[in-house]
Amino acid sequence: MSTLDKNPIDSNRTSGENLSYWIASSKPIIFEKVDKSFQTDILIIGGGISGLTAAYCLLKAGHKITLVEDGFIGSGESGRTTAHITHALDDFYYELEKIFNEEKAALAANSHSAAIEWINKTIELEKIECNFKRVDGYLFLHATDTKETLDKEYAATKRAGLLTEMLSKVPAIESENGWCIKYPGQAQFHIMHYLKGLADAIVKMGGNIFTESKAEHINKNGAKVNEFDIAANHIIVATNTPVNDVLTMHTKQWPYRTYVIGAKIKKGKLPYSLWWDTGDHDSKWITQPYHYVRLEELDEEYDLLICGGEDHKTGQADDEDIPEEDRYTKLIGWTKKRFPAIEDIVYKWSGQVMEPVDSLGFIGKNPGDDNIYIITGDSGNGMTHGTLGGMIISDIITGKENQWMDLYSPSRITLTTTDDYLREVGNMTAQLVDWVSQGDIKDAEELKPGEGGVISSGLKKIAVYRDEHNCIHAHTAVCPHLGGILQWNNEEKSFDCPMHGSRFTTEGKVINGPAKGDLKKIEIKDEDEKATDLNK
Ligand code: FES
Repeated sequence: MSTLDKNPIDSNRTSGENLSYWIASSKPIIFEKVDKSFQTDILIIGGGISGLTAAYCLLKAGHKITLVEDGFIGSGESGRTTAHITHALDDFYYELEKIFNEEKAALAANSHSAAIEWINKTIELEKIECNFKRVDGYLFLHATDTKETLDKEYAATKRAGLLTEMLSKVPAIESENGWCIKYPGQAQFHIMHYLKGLADAIVKMGGNIFTESKAEHINKNGAKVNEFDIAANHIIVATNTPVNDVLTMHTKQWPYRTYVIGAKIKKGKLPYSLWWDTGDHDSKWITQPYHYVRLEELDEEYDLLICGGEDHKTGQADDEDIPEEDRYTKLIGWTKKRFPAIEDIVYKWSGQVMEPVDSLGFIGKNPGDDNIYIITGDSGNGMTHGTLGGMIISDIITGKENQWMDLYSPSRITLTTTDDYLREVGNMTAQLVDWVSQGDIKDAEELKPGEGGVISSGLKKIAVYRDEHNCIHAHTAVCPHLGGILQWNNEEKSFDCPMHGSRFTTEGKVINGPAKGDLKKIEIKDEDEKATDLNK
């Protein structure tokens, strides 16, 4: 089984042309579409790990819920994760101590540990078959880093109450002969099989799930879904990045693309474990990209080694002169050096990570709203952050005390992040320069079938794509969210916004928020020829 042959984006199934292993190895999880107006108690928007966990917890607490998902279950970023379930936070506990304090860093450790336990218990209780395993994790040095990072992190994890150990050798990676921190009791699973199990349990408890049901006009009374009105007392927006909010939350977190490969490796060559390095300290990005590795059962003979990294700000891959496709080449080289026993590379895909300004997710009431809640800011720990999202919001709505509520509040103000905040805001503002710069191609004639680009004509920017039948598709290249100029992503065949990470298919359909609507189509008079009027 392999998905290296390109498939056109089926945006109901996933948000890119490359299929993740999880999506390729599972059946689409589909429910009925919303086809009439109705009333519900709690409306949950988004069918990933956050939305489904919220639905499960609320049903257990005795509420009635309706969950709507634009595509299919797991078709957003949950289906494109690598599904590390860990309390080894990738922004490091010693940084959390600086940003917050020791007590809050310990609270964060406690919350992510609780999320791992919650997943474990729920899988047992609901008998979900999803290859769940408790495994150890190992944090080792990136080539650009020094042992001081591990020493500081080890000390901080101890202060946070984690049962870490410092080891003088990285288990199972021969080429890494330095120290590492061991995190016992982490976990992994097949995310789509897990989501299927949660969805089944939700339906069994009387929850309503709808797929291919797009929510718009979200407000305190509910939302319009597929043009029908759903009235609700509480609304939870669990859409990776909130689509109810125009600005506030999008100045507190930033989108990064991350790349993943899946390589066959004979069973028994490696133990089931998680590995991470400490990140590239020479990187130009404020969130330094790191490598993350795990093993998954593939078939009788092979496991799949899943390795990720080579991140960049969404829509800005060219700022490092490394286009999207070359990032896989770099990743393969890194993986082969450390895991020489791998054989064929059979999967590759990319995903989107939201990096919050102070490293912790945003979970709770949307700022300024009383009955609208958000779960966002996965920060590379989407499995635990998403699970915590469901647990915390269920407690808020139920009126139950929750010790992590303030830590994750979307309204929190974290003053010690000012430097990084200003740099990220500067990066975001710099994207507006694209309004006066050239497009990346001069004419649609330059495009081969399957390629896209942005043409500039004065202040007009046009996103063009030549399909496999040689037809040109043209849309405005101005992001409907707040006017960023879109960039072509040749790997996932999408137009990506470098400001807040909205993404669109070659047909102009929105596949990642915060943009709520699709791109405006530009009609081409003479489709057959070179689309000369695009330049007029
Ligand atoms: Fe905000 Fe495009 S995502 S301007």
